[in-house]
Amino acid sequence: MMTAVFPGSFDPVTVGHMDLIVRSAGMFDRLVLGVLINPVKLPLFSLEERVEMLSQLTEDMANVSVRSFEGLLADFVAKEKAGVIVRGLRTPQDFEYELPLAQANHRLNQNADTVFLATAPEYSFISSSGVKEIYRFGGDIRGMVPELVFEKLHKD
Ligand code: PNS
Repeated sequence: MMTAVFPGSFDPVTVGHMDLIVRSAGMFDRLVLGVLINPVKLPLFSLEERVEMLSQLTEDMANVSVRSFEGLLADFVAKEKAGVIVRGLRTPQDFEYELPLAQANHRLNQNADTVFLATAPEYSFISSSGVKEIYRFGGDIRGMVPELVFEKLHKD
């Protein structure tokens, strides 16, 4: 049984994330979405809200579960008995950023290998940070995030 962890801030979860979740859930027996607070990023949603939204968005995916974690990703992956870390690549710059993280994570947990999925080209311009900025300046983020997230941000 192969378990994969897809870690991220998911603040907010985007349609690009959802595409990667669906694709990776089809590749592994079990997919754990590991949500954490990234201290260098100003949050839009609390950790609890993110876990709740991801849980709702994946409720029909039987092999997907959502957990929050703190500390090292390599330790969370070991705790979940996972052998794979899934990360998406939108750009060559993403790869430059992700490669040393993948190498460090393998050094910290030799049972875990990082698998990179190429983001669908129609989503490659979408990032949580970009969505947050567009939203904060009043821009239209419809279609960049799942409808559930859009509604939560616009319900007031
Ligand atoms: O969605 P993000 O913010 O790009 O996700 C970043 C994430 C969660 C993959 C990264 O910040 C992370 O793994 N943090 C956990 C702390 C850790 O293990 N740091 C050492 C990495 S070698």
